[in-house]
Amino acid sequence: MCGIVGYIGKRNSLQIIYDGLIRLEYRGYDSAGIAVIDKDCNINVVKKAGKVKELESYFDKDLLEGNTGIGHTRWATHGDPNDINAHPHFDMTKNISIVHNGIIENYLTLKTKLQQEGFTFSTETDTEVLANLIQYYYISKQSFEIAVRLALSEVEGTYGIAVLCRDEPDKIIIARMGSPLMFGIGQDEIIASSDAAAIISHTKNVIYLEDGEMAILRKDGFQIKTINDEDIHREIMKIEFDLEEIEKGDFEHFMLKEICEQPDTIQNTYRGRINFDTGVVKLGGLENVKEKLFNAKRIIFVACGTAWHAGIVGKYLIEQYCGIPAEVEYASEFRYRNPVINKDDVIFVISQSGETLDTLEALRLSKKSGATTLGIVNRVGSVIAREVDAGVYIHAGPEIGVASTKAFTCQIMSLILITMMIGKNNKTISDKDLKEIAAELKGLPEKMRQIIDKKNDYKFIAEEFKNAKNFLYLGRGLNFPVALEGALKLKEISYIHAEGYPAAEMKHGPIALIDENMPVVFIAPKDSTYQKIISNIIEVKTRKGKIITLASEDDKDINEYSDYILRVPDVHPLFSPIINSIPLQFLSYYIAAARNSNVDQPRNLAKVVTVE
Ligand code: F6R
Repeated sequence: MCGIVGYIGKRNSLQIIYDGLIRLEYRGYDSAGIAVIDKDCNINVVKKAGKVKELESYFDKDLLEGNTGIGHTRWATHGDPNDINAHPHFDMTKNISIVHNGIIENYLTLKTKLQQEGFTFSTETDTEVLANLIQYYYISKQSFEIAVRLALSEVEGTYGIAVLCRDEPDKIIIARMGSPLMFGIGQDEIIASSDAAAIISHTKNVIYLEDGEMAILRKDGFQIKTINDEDIHREIMKIEFDLEEIEKGDFEHFMLKEICEQPDTIQNTYRGRINFDTGVVKLGGLENVKEKLFNAKRIIFVACGTAWHAGIVGKYLIEQYCGIPAEVEYASEFRYRNPVINKDDVIFVISQSGETLDTLEALRLSKKSGATTLGIVNRVGSVIAREVDAGVYIHAGPEIGVASTKAFTCQIMSLILITMMIGKNNKTISDKDLKEIAAELKGLPEKMRQIIDKKNDYKFIAEEFKNAKNFLYLGRGLNFPVALEGALKLKEISYIHAEGYPAAEMKHGPIALIDENMPVVFIAPKDSTYQKIISNIIEVKTRKGKIITLASEDDKDINEYSDYILRVPDVHPLFSPIINSIPLQFLSYYIAAARNSNVDQPRNLAKVVTVE
């Protein structure tokens, strides 16, 4: 969840590292730092608590001039986000400088051992222990590469690291275990990073490291090894997105850009996967495992956060349209509660980043238990995508805003495609219905666009409610997870307390909270649940709650029950979680903007959660 950048080449490294850190800031943003090797082979460091931009004012351009350097933007897990705990860290002799993502679990044991050898420490961090451990081996082996290798062979935990050595200034060493790391190969230069976003403006040619591997990077070449000293040959890959996809363009925030992109991203999810004349879906990534899927005794969706909400949509779809028992699990609970997993279970892990640690570990547990594991993942080549038996990429493109938006709707789109594929094969969805769904899908992006075109209408309602202390979001059926997601979005970026509930559950507790200060958002599509929702609305109205409804464009009946109405075009019920998500994303976005929140980088959150 932190970001790493390293540069070695013919250019001045400072600006390249700084620009890279700015691009990675969405992964962590409570402190940042850069180390550069100067012409006298000293390693000079600048590091500060706060955003990457704040670091710039502390740059001493003379000290930080050099062609080799490393940088880090941090999301604190252990230790305060202050100047001292910011990376890079030195060993006590300042020979080794390191930036590190992850957690060294046995750092206290290693620290005690080093203290007995006379090493001293100036921080409480695990990373400083690793710097000193490398130096400990450097003293005896006089080889940077061997020292890193020996140190890492003693480490338990996760790491993505980039390391400099004052005495061997012609290289950067990077290594990974459970934390992504890659390097881009340019003309006489190499840019290392934990994320392709920091590399793409320099080159699209990249090599991804695997767990247990390290790379020795020089300006004119590189060598990849395992930390057990075996040589590795790895193909050069192409970064799969373009620079403009990770730039804000004319939008004020990435989140707003990503909300508005959804008519396109949704098409990227289904493009080439559906025959619009027949409604037949073909998902190449599932081709080899489709028999397992069609014959699954049970399907389990495992995920965290927003992806977990998509999982609930998946469960409802699979049970309703395919008749296969389905469950949805929080990855963090699933992995620790000894779940019963059978060999004929199919387990879908859903993850935008493909890196969430709990989801990854739940996947590994499922694999060990012999179930078929399938991924619904956005990041191409991410660790979850690589470890599942098979899967579907959602093709949402890079999602930079910390609050997930377009990934959610593309996850749901993927789940709809999977449902159609199973339903066709297992004859639980008729050919006529498949055709009708496909025809409806064709018009979906345009309907999404209609909502987006009216986005400024949300500003008024955001102004009305920007000072609310609490919000309740209620929906039924496929729109219950949309209610959960709407509440999560609001909490994340505006810091207003919000809860999502199945509408009828309101009577079992939350109704006690309703008074004239409580805004309640009802998702009220004109489907089989409509009358029930109206009854729930009346219950809230009687208690003077403020009613905000999400309703079909031609639903006039809703007017008398609503204080505010967010209109959405009519869609096939399957697509209602997609279409209904957009107004709720806008509502939370504009409320947060009206409160002057840092929408793209909300406090305490990080885009990728690689800790437990
Ligand atoms: C919410 C959000 C998080 C993520 C969760 C899982 O806006 O972004 O709740 O959905 O951390 O992340 P992935 O999908 O990357 O596994």
